[in-house]
Amino acid sequence: MEQPRSLDVPGLVFGGDYNPEQWPEEKWREDVRLMNLAGVNLVTVGVFSWGRLEPREGVFDFEWLDRVLDLLHAHGIKADLATATASPPAWLVRAHPEMLPVDAFGTRLEFGSRQSYCPSSPVWREQSVRLCRMMATRYKDHPALAMWHVSNEYGDELSRCWCPTSAQAFRKWLQVRYRTIDALNEAWGTCVWSQIYASFEQIEPPRATPGPGNPSQRLDFERFSSDALVQLFDDEAAVLREVTPGVPVTTNFMGVCPGVDYWELAAREDIVSNDAYPDPADDDSGFGAGFGYSFMRSAKRGPWLLLESAPSAVNWRDVNVPKTTARRRLDAMQAIAHGSEGVMYFQWRQARQGAEQHHSAMVGHRGEASRTFHDTRSLGAELAALADVRGTTVHAEAAMIVDWDSWWASSALESLPSQRLAWAEQARRWHQAAAMLGVAVDIVRAEGPFDPYRVVLIPGLYLATPAQAAALTRFVETGGTLLVGGFSGVVDETETVHSGGPPGPLRNLLGVEIDEPWPLSDGATGAVELDDAAFATHLWHESIVAAAGTAVLARYRGGPLDGRPALTEHACGQGQARYLSCVLDDAGLSTVLQAALARAGVVVREAPSRVEVVTRTDGQADYTFWLNHSEQEQTLDTPAGAIDVLRGIPLASSTTVAAMDVLIARSPIRSEGSQ
Ligand code: GLA
Repeated sequence: MEQPRSLDVPGLVFGGDYNPEQWPEEKWREDVRLMNLAGVNLVTVGVFSWGRLEPREGVFDFEWLDRVLDLLHAHGIKADLATATASPPAWLVRAHPEMLPVDAFGTRLEFGSRQSYCPSSPVWREQSVRLCRMMATRYKDHPALAMWHVSNEYGDELSRCWCPTSAQAFRKWLQVRYRTIDALNEAWGTCVWSQIYASFEQIEPPRATPGPGNPSQRLDFERFSSDALVQLFDDEAAVLREVTPGVPVTTNFMGVCPGVDYWELAAREDIVSNDAYPDPADDDSGFGAGFGYSFMRSAKRGPWLLLESAPSAVNWRDVNVPKTTARRRLDAMQAIAHGSEGVMYFQWRQARQGAEQHHSAMVGHRGEASRTFHDTRSLGAELAALADVRGTTVHAEAAMIVDWDSWWASSALESLPSQRLAWAEQARRWHQAAAMLGVAVDIVRAEGPFDPYRVVLIPGLYLATPAQAAALTRFVETGGTLLVGGFSGVVDETETVHSGGPPGPLRNLLGVEIDEPWPLSDGATGAVELDDAAFATHLWHESIVAAAGTAVLARYRGGPLDGRPALTEHACGQGQARYLSCVLDDAGLSTVLQAALARAGVVVREAPSRVEVVTRTDGQADYTFWLNHSEQEQTLDTPAGAIDVLRGIPLASSTTVAAMDVLIARSPIRSEGSQ
């Protein structure tokens, strides 16, 4: 396979989105001066610039961008140059109004925001590739060009379109998938509610319907829509690779998000990049961001970059609480801890006009005097001191499955046992529980590969295939430990419930059958007894039957399932597969996870409550980050011979770290199995 191209910016990357077209040219000199002061070495330019670059069809104005790139280069700053295709200009939309997207109710969404295009529009595809080629050709030899930024956050404002063009493209997509209408009818179970189709021409995207829609149709529409966005990336990436074969190509992700199958996009990128906006008003939001970071690190098993984050408040929540200086620093260091090549922000200078005028920036409305700029400068200095961390990697012995097909299958449904069991929320909780145990978790596809790991975690895999079950069985038989959460193995890839019910193809591996899901009503709690301790449950129970030879590790206490199995273990070859049939409270989840990790021989790193520990290594030195997400000072045990990297001083064996502070220690690598 072709080697991905790397980002040629020395040290850790520091910068943000730069929108000079929103400012008079005199400001640009001030911008680069401040960028130099803060140690900025990469800026993202041109994301939404199409309207300025081509104000009328065929009338171009690239000179201002030439001057911006020249100025950046003269000041030693590189550009993550966008192909400017994140938003169409007005002339294009007015000439081709049919390219505007349509929602599920048939309303055409007007021009006046961004991402105003139908992903399946042939006009959009042709025009965006045309602009991409012009950008690539014009700037291919520019010395500031360090990376290409294709589009922006695919699947953000716009991830699905229900217009007639999309409908036609959906029908074509279905024809390729099913070949015959009979095969589609069978896969979609259209004999239910008289939905049988006589031809592909009769099929429409799942628009708003009087009652619940067909789940299989919805799932296929999710897949089709994701493919359409991936195709847009492919179209542009092909041009960029032809014209500038040595320049890395990225498109920015939004954590683990449902709009597009990120496994597919990541496979096509050179560098995975991410946008993370944890809510400062939510104490746990940093752990949510950490889940995204684990995905980014795993998506290509290589370097990734935090391409956007907020210096302080965002503008798109109902209430936008600013970040304290400490929180901003902790967020930045957390991304670095999880393997990011640097820290970038949206955006460099706070806008005075437009939809984002109340969004914070690296330079606030008060310019150089603003608090955010002051913090920008100090962070830049600290990141410069961490340059050696670049290129080091996080090693994980545990992995968690993230599968878009399964996610879509369980979330595109209007009829479920419970709408409260959201896969993403449970996955985030499992990841947070592991993070609090100091255990790094890689994210893997449902098909594997699993062999680099001792333990595989599946918070939920609603859609599971025989091939996935076979890969997981091989993993367990050869000594792996598997922990699977409830409502898994329910349907196949056509969204048909597996014969005999869940856990379908996982039945032999898990040694359980699910007789009935038993969701809890809102606010209700239950209890589970595990090793003489009781833990509370909420949202979800299942009535399960353990096969002969399957050990019951925990049972329900009280309620209709009193005494029935809640957590089981089935030995299989040299390993074991555990099944957790309920949603536990945080303490219970942590206990179950810790037991599975111990069973697998994964060393848990005890740290004070809400202190996240992550280690990056280059094989000789470990860089251990203790991120104190709590509001209290915490005392840590630090490894022998450790140096405080930020302060450049040796560390005692016990060190305190202030509330919302971070400690980064360099030490000789940990030997296997040591704390
Ligand atoms: C996203 C977008 C940016 C900007 C920020 C604001 O990440 O990519 O263009 O709108 O949100 O938080």
